[in-house]
Amino acid sequence: MLSQRGRQTADEPLRPDFALFNRAAENPYGPENPTGAITLCIAENHLQWPYLRDRLQEIARMRPWPDWIAAYASLAGAPEFRESVARFVGLHIAGQPLNADLFCASAGATAVVEVSALCLGDAGDYAVFPAPAYQAYLPDINNKAGLLRHDIAEYAKPFGSGYHPLSVDELDAARATLGDRFRMLVLTQPDNPTGAVYSEDQLRAFTDWCISHRIHLIVNEIYALSQFRRDAPGIDNRSDYTSFLPLLEERDSPYLHWWYSFSKDFGVSGFRVGLLYSRNETFRRAYTNFNAPHQISNLTQWLLAELLRDDRWVTDFLDNNRRLLTAAYRSVADTLDELKVPYTPARGSLFVWADFSGYLPERTRAASEKLWGEIFTHTGVLLTAPGGLGQPDAGWYRIVYSGVGPEELGEAMRRLREFLNRLA
Ligand SMILES: Cc1ncc(COP(=O)(O)O)c(C=O)c1O
Repeated sequence: MLSQRGRQTADEPLRPDFALFNRAAENPYGPENPTGAITLCIAENHLQWPYLRDRLQEIARMRPWPDWIAAYASLAGAPEFRESVARFVGLHIAGQPLNADLFCASAGATAVVEVSALCLGDAGDYAVFPAPAYQAYLPDINNKAGLLRHDIAEYAKPFGSGYHPLSVDELDAARATLGDRFRMLVLTQPDNPTGAVYSEDQLRAFTDWCISHRIHLIVNEIYALSQFRRDAPGIDNRSDYTSFLPLLEERDSPYLHWWYSFSKDFGVSGFRVGLLYSRNETFRRAYTNFNAPHQISNLTQWLLAELLRDDRWVTDFLDNNRRLLTAAYRSVADTLDELKVPYTPARGSLFVWADFSGYLPERTRAASEKLWGEIFTHTGVLLTAPGGLGQPDAGWYRIVYSGVGPEELGEAMRRLREFLNRLA
């Protein structure tokens, strides 16, 4: 009845934790349900939604809706939206002006990853990631484009409070294994799940390496503005954050590209707004032609363009975001410190990447999955499922601290503490 592709995909959920996620969603924690489930597995940021919602409602009510929102717009994104976005990204991420024509917009970073893969690699080519890495990179590069994922998995170990330890040596090793099928290197900073960032020297070295080997380097800065306040007490990772954009502009190479989305820093994953920035004109043309099924609704483009124009409001929103994320991160890190659970000190992102292997009877994948299930069964707290992120070591779980408010997160930490103390 279905295509071979359709039959195969019907039994492949996007994530291994969807079944428990759905169970948790049927019985959510709240004032009327204090024993309900608390979901800390999906990378969402709901910390400022009421504030943002009020602002968007005001814009939609008070400002005249332009006629272009009812018509087809440019396949790369409406010009008005790209102008506004270029100003915003230039001011808040790149620290220098950017050219609006070099942006392409799609329905979320998911679509940006998929369309980029379609344009940059052939089926059977490899995209290379320092692992652990965002689990949906694999379906996004593979489902349609047929690219394969190669993890440089040496980093699935705890690393300290400095920069991500990836070096050119590992890139050489991956190239020795993959040869010409190594088509693109994808870095995420702040990283999902470790929260680590790369130094300017590392970014320069990777850029030189990729250009000299004609390999595409894509830096995904989807968490660029989800960074902690460096002056806050208890923040151990104070590494400098260097956006890739100034380097991309400086080197002006067809091999350098940048990804972004409003899902995380603005907490509007449901709006589906992702961005590509590239100086490669042929790539942008191919991207635009592939982009028809992935366009963002013009109403959403217009709303965001209007929102981003008010720089004072945006700056306040982002400052507040940093403050709230710092407090939420500390709430989880303090609990882990108390339990003596090791974790990688993050510079930003929405996660803590923590090592619960001390609670495993044996360091196996099966034991890791069992403990993850037991944590949910006994506490109602759902962490991100082990596996899928590319970590070979058992016992590492990702904890998302921005999808629930401070009170709910505190309750989750209380339950986790109680359960793990009983296990110890
Ligand atoms: C690194 C990374 N890239 C892409 C995405 C997908 O983002 P979007 O909601 O914009 O599709 C995520 C979401 O978790 C992510 O963590």
